[in-house]
Formats: sequence, C-alpha cells, structure tokens
Amino acid sequence: MSSFYLTTPLYYVNAQPHLGHAYSTIVADTMVRFQRQRGHDARFLTGTDEHGQKIQRAAEAAGVSPQEFTDRVASSFRAEWDRLGLQYDFFIRTTEPRHTAAVLDIFERLRQNGAIYKGSYSGPYCVSDELYVGEGQPGDPCPICGRPTELVSEENYYFKLSEYGPKVREHILAHPDFIRPETRRNEVLAFIESGLRDVSISRTSIQWGIPVPGDEKHVLYVWFDALIGYLSGIGYGSKAAVDQQNWQKLWPGWHLVGKEIVRFHCVYWPAFLMAAGLPLPRGIIAHGWLLFDQEKMSKSLGNVLRPEPIRKLLGADVLRYFLLREVSFGQDGNFSHAALVDRYNSDLANGLGNLASRTLAMIERYRGGLVPATAGAGIPEDFTKHFEDWQFSRGLEVVWGLIGAMDRYIAAEKPWDLAKLPDPAPLDQVLGTAFASLRTIAVLLSSAMPETAAKLWTQLGFSGSPAIEFSKLETGAIPAGHRIGKPEALFPRLDKEKTVEELRHLEQTPATPAPAPDPHISIDDFAKVDLRVGTVVTAERIKGADKLLKLTVDIGTEIRQILAGIALAYDPATLPGRKVVVVANLAPRKLRGLDSNGMIVAASVGEAGTPVLVSVPDDTPNGARLK
Ligand code: MSP
Repeated sequence: MSSFYLTTPLYYVNAQPHLGHAYSTIVADTMVRFQRQRGHDARFLTGTDEHGQKIQRAAEAAGVSPQEFTDRVASSFRAEWDRLGLQYDFFIRTTEPRHTAAVLDIFERLRQNGAIYKGSYSGPYCVSDELYVGEGQPGDPCPICGRPTELVSEENYYFKLSEYGPKVREHILAHPDFIRPETRRNEVLAFIESGLRDVSISRTSIQWGIPVPGDEKHVLYVWFDALIGYLSGIGYGSKAAVDQQNWQKLWPGWHLVGKEIVRFHCVYWPAFLMAAGLPLPRGIIAHGWLLFDQEKMSKSLGNVLRPEPIRKLLGADVLRYFLLREVSFGQDGNFSHAALVDRYNSDLANGLGNLASRTLAMIERYRGGLVPATAGAGIPEDFTKHFEDWQFSRGLEVVWGLIGAMDRYIAAEKPWDLAKLPDPAPLDQVLGTAFASLRTIAVLLSSAMPETAAKLWTQLGFSGSPAIEFSKLETGAIPAGHRIGKPEALFPRLDKEKTVEELRHLEQTPATPAPAPDPHISIDDFAKVDLRVGTVVTAERIKGADKLLKLTVDIGTEIRQILAGIALAYDPATLPGRKVVVVANLAPRKLRGLDSNGMIVAASVGEAGTPVLVSVPDDTPNGARLK
C-alpha cells in the first residue's frame, strides 16, 4: 500500500477559524478520504502557525501573553475541525517543543552545509505577511496584501536563495506536476527567472519565536519556522525510532495551499529542503479564495463567516457539498447564504434526497423491503479521474449526473405501472438498478459527504461504512433477499427566506456568549498574585538588549534571577541593596535565552512608559507579602 501524505497550511492564530480556512481543510479531508478509497495509506496534517510579530501584536491587543493567546486560538481551531468531523491525523502547533527540535535541526543542517550567513537589511517590511519587501520605500503597499509596509533595520541570518533558486527551477521544469495548476507554475517560474535575492531567515525586532542557537537575540523567521511544521508534525526531529520511521514513511508529501502563499511553498520551501539535503515535496496544489460579497473572506476585511452556524442548522455535509461543488477548484469562488440554500433545495432535497426516498419507498411498498437480486453498478471512471485531479466540482457533477439519469429512468419506466404486471421481472429490474445506483452513490459520496453517505448506507440496509475501496465495490453484486433499512428524509426541503434569515441570525450570535465585562475583580483574584518584598543583590546589563537588566533578588526564601525592562531608566550600579516588589509566582520564562523567574513591579510613567520602581521602607523584611 503506498502512502499519500497531505498537508493544509498551518493557520495563523491571529484570527479565529472562518469559512476560508474551513474550505482548505475540507478539501484536504475530502482528498485524503478519497485516496483511502483508492487503496492508499493516506494521512492528513494540519496545525497552527503561532510565532511572529502578527501573533505577538494580536496577543498584546487581547491583553494576554502570547502563549496564553495561542493556546486559546489553537484549541478553537482544533475544536472547529472536530465539530466539522474533519479527520486530521496530525496536528502540529509551532510552539510545541517537538517542533522547535525539528526547526533547530534543519537550521543546523543549513548552517553546516554553508547555506546560511549573517548580513543586514534596512527597508520596508510587511508585518501582516511577515515579509521583507526588497524594493521601494517604507510605507509603500505590501505586494501581497497591499497594507502599508514599515521600516525595519536589522542584522540577520540569510539563506542563500540566490544559489538554490536555479536548482528549484530545474526541479520544476523536470517535474511538470510539481506545481498545480499551470497558471501558478508559470507564475513561480517567472518569479524565479526574475532573479532571486538571498532571504533573511531571522529577526531581531521580534521576541515571539524560536531563538537562533548561540545568538538568542535573533528569532527565526516565521515562515522558515512554520514550513518545517510539515515535517515536525510527523516525527522529524524526534529521536524516538517510531517517529523516525513515521516521517520517513510519509515524506515526501503533498501540500495544499491558497494561491497567495504559493511562493513560500514552491520556492523557499524546496530550497530549504534541498539545502538541508532532504527530499522535496511530491507536489504543491494551489486553490483560489473563497469570496464573500466578491472579496476575499478575511479577518482584516471584516467579512468572515464562521462554519458553525451552517453546521448547526444544516449539518457539516451541506457546507462540504456547497464548497466542493460551487467552487471550481483552483479558481476563486463566491459564498452566499442564498446560493447555499438554493443548492441545498435543488441538489440535495430534490436531487439526492428525493431519489433515495422514492426508491426505498417503492422497494418497501412493492417488495416488502427486499431488494431484487441485481448486478452491482461500478464506479464511473470520470468521477475517479476528476477527484484524482482535484476537480471536485466536476466529480460531483458526475454523481449528480447519475442521480438525474436515475430520475429519468424511473420516470420513463413508470414502476407504478410495472407493479400491475403479472411478470415481476421488469419491476425487479428497475428497483434493482435504482438500488444499485444508490449504493454506488453512497460509496462515491463518502469522501465529500461522509455523514450523508453513512446515513444513506444504513437506509440501504448495509452495515459498516460506505468508505470502501473502489476496487472492492466493482465486483459487488447484490444478492436476493437483501433487506433495506428504515427510510428517513435525508434533506427536508427548506424555506429559502426563512433559512437565510436564520443563518444570518446565527452568524450574529457569538459562538460562546462573552461574559458581561465587570471592571471589578474578587479578593480571591487578587490573592492569586503573590507580591513579595525583595532586595536587589546584583544588577548587570545584557549584551545586545538595550532595555533589559539581569537582576538577582533576595526574596527571603531564595535568591531569584529576574530580567527587568528598566535598563533605560536605571543605572545597574545604583540598584544593589535597593528594596523592590516582586511578582513571585509569575510563570518562569526565557528572554534572550536567559531565565527570568518573576517580575519586578514598576509604575509606568508618561507616553513612553518610563519605569519607576515601586519602593517600600528599607527595614521591610525580604519575603514579606503585599496584600
Ligand atoms: N500561516 C500561514 C501558512 C503557513 S504554512 C507553513 C498562512 N496562514 S493563514 O491562516 O493566513 O492561511 C492559511 C490558509 O488558509 C492559506 O492557504 C489561505 O489561502 C487559506 N485561506 C485563508 N482565507 C481564505 C479564503 N478566504 N479562501 C480560501 N482560503 C483561505 O498563510
């Protein structure tokens, strides 16, 4: 059995999961389920991209630490995919230690292979896309998102993209399927041919990232870090034999990406891998954007819709069907509530639902629920070809073609008249054919609409799952005496206006009602903060960190190392012997590679937030608690 390993991008956690994210995850889930039916050992990785300035700023805006913020949003992504029944096999968060281990391993390989050097950059930078914009002035629009760039000046580690770019080009030329669709392939080739500069893979302006070993004031560039998630998530970087075997079995895999991140996946990523001496991906498949009101659905445009209202009211499969059918894969596609309900009524209620219920009702009425013996209907080749080719809309058209053909067949054969004939054969033929088609339809739909396929399967009287391998179905005749299950409407017709209204209403209702803001905290809340009196023992500057001082502080029970952002306001020589107030139970953290175990309390004064140390009388004993 050959393996098929597919990834979605790792989603930025500055936004809650929305329909645009759901689109790519649904596509991946469908493809993986389909590949299983093709007989492959298919696996699916997704995850979250949690480092970088964008996330750091989002956490600041939310008033929580980056770790707390990313924990919260990453779990809402997982919860969303779980509710939608998306069966990822691996979920990687770029803040996990196993990921850091993999990133450092690859960084080291690149360093050893001479693919990294130190250089400096001064110029425009897009925070949103975490991108250095080679040309132009700060303030110019970012070439990807159009937002104004900012000025950054940094000394950085550079990756020799200029050296690897031509090799990536050769690979693309030698592998026509490496980038799909063709338009994206041409775009990438043109980009490489325009001449590639080396890329910076570290930042000093950001703290929220993986520090460069031995040079901790640098953190690794978020894209360098995140792409490696495709490997760390399947075991790369782990010493355990089972992990090693796992990634070696699955890699190289396929990447599904949105069109705006093709460059990172088709140029940078293969170049990093080449330089690290690792195999390149099998291929990169780019999809278009899901639009709402003809604009890309995105947090920054404020036009995002959540998957949850649709799932809650109509079920996950209705959303899956709509997205896979309506969007012509590779192109942009528009979402609207009205179009969703129209498709539901025409294709699901009148189409599939109606064929299933009338066929089963006739088998019940004319044959007491027993299916006449019939040859199995095979898998239409076009369907397989289209799904294999990521053309889900076309593949589903094949299924709906079959549904339409069966409807016409039943209308032409008039089983209600055949039932009056003394010879049972003509009616058996019609009922058997319609039943066998429904069985095939359930099997075909089990990747795109797994819940519906399973329900239909049960109604057809089968046990187990319809997600069976295609090769096993083709020979499967249905023997006499097979009894159908209990028919139930799969898709009751909807009142369009009412449903659209209800969906819009649900969209306005927040997922979890936000608690009414209360400006007060309880005494118990305050008691959680362990404030202690201490005396500074030593104080020194930290090389390369203008604002930080490294202090040791006697807090009565022990001497703590604490890093404090007070270097611009206090000369370290004046601090030893000084009384301070310490937050003693703050979770330890690393800053610039150094441990900080607590926080010194200071008033923040003026626009610049100049720190002023809080003091207590000199005879207050160390360790005394403030309460
Ligand atoms: N974090 C990077 C990816 C790093 S992969 C090593 C990122 N994250 S993202 O959250 O902004 O986007 C993740 C994926 O979601 C992208 O493929 C993007 O195209 C897709 N989508 C985000 N909004 C979308 C739509 N409105 N429509 C379709 N896909 C969308 O990029």
